[in-house]
Amino acid sequence: MRVVVTGGAGFLGSHLCEALVRRGDAVVCADDLSTGRLENIEHLRHLGCEFVRADVTMPLEVSGTVDAVAHLASPASPPDYLRLPLETLAVGSRGTENALRLATQHGARFVLASTSEVYGDPLVHPQHEEYWGNVNPIGPRSVYDEAKRYAEAVTTAYRGRRANTGILRIFNTYGPRMRPCDGRVVSSFIVQALSGEPLTVYGSGDQTRSFCYVDDLVRGLVAMIDSAEAGPLNIGNPQELTVRELAQLVLEITGSSSAVEYHPLPQNDPTRRRPVVTRVRDALGWSPEVSIEEGLRRTVQWFAARPDAVAAAALALRGGQSGADRVRPAADQLPVQAQPLPATEQAASAQV
Ligand SMILES: NC(=O)c1ccc[n+]([C@@H]2O[C@H](COP(=O)([O-])OP(=O)(O)OC[C@H]3O[C@@H](n4cnc5c(N)ncnc54)[C@H](O)[C@@H]3O)[C@@H](O)[C@H]2O)c1
Repeated sequence: MRVVVTGGAGFLGSHLCEALVRRGDAVVCADDLSTGRLENIEHLRHLGCEFVRADVTMPLEVSGTVDAVAHLASPASPPDYLRLPLETLAVGSRGTENALRLATQHGARFVLASTSEVYGDPLVHPQHEEYWGNVNPIGPRSVYDEAKRYAEAVTTAYRGRRANTGILRIFNTYGPRMRPCDGRVVSSFIVQALSGEPLTVYGSGDQTRSFCYVDDLVRGLVAMIDSAEAGPLNIGNPQELTVRELAQLVLEITGSSSAVEYHPLPQNDPTRRRPVVTRVRDALGWSPEVSIEEGLRRTVQWFAARPDAVAAAALALRGGQSGADRVRPAADQLPVQAQPLPATEQAASAQV
């Protein structure tokens, strides 16, 4: 099988490319490297993973056979999509259309990497696929949430025209190859713990998240590529954890004596997130296998082997905090996870 993976040089994309290559598929990784890194797939390039530097918001052509297109290209962490708002809307809309066109031209299976963010700040808990969500269309996070909602709509419309499309709604995923300074809660806590810096918790820390280890997630992505399921299917670990519990776990696993610091909660920060995974279990036989303790141990190990990147990220996190403090004119202009951002962007930089 020959699979095109858009966004294949990113965190999830590179693990997907690796899983496909390891089972003998040929892979074409199409990526503009805006948030991804070539080093994520460097080790796969002699194993049948071809890299094409391409912005998928431009027409996408791939010669030769294409059996499946997995569309993962999109900035995914809040600092990234707030820094790239128009690009995020473009890749969710035009980018998805181009990836769908490519799949249709080749009669290939198409899988959209959608997100739990389509549920916004959910009024229904836990989140099942019939729930339509609670998204502020002009809120700071809307560039990402609405782009993905459009991506789901256009994917569904293509299915209406007999294209073999499927939608996976991915919940928070973590693991090796997350960028240490990507602003997500798992990477930020690990960086802070390994550097002896205080762990930054927004709000009381009682807001919950569910964290899926990357290997589990990729197993589901591959099963979705191999199936003809339409979805949408939630995919994520249904074990719910408060952000405060996560901080404690990271402290235990790293053996760090860092303190935990509390800051005001950002605007539109979802308070609860947990997937109902009955559908994906029934449709694909998928359920998570890696515990949060084991997944965090593997992730901490990966970060600990990169002390320079961790030190740089710790510095950026500290800079974000003190930079925000310096310019903070009002209570709702909040410190950020990874890098100094303008005040409007800080308000959206939730703990994801
Ligand atoms: N990581 C998660 O927890 C999570 C959760 C929900 C959904 N997702 C979705 O999974 C996908 C991958 O997320 P990730 O965490 O690996 O993020 P990432 O930023 O590591 O990877 C995204 C990749 O897309 C590439 N890209 C962005 N715009 C592009 C464009 N116009 N043309 C070509 N390439 C482009 C980037 O360079 C990067 O390699 C995204 O679509 C994201 O929305 C991720």
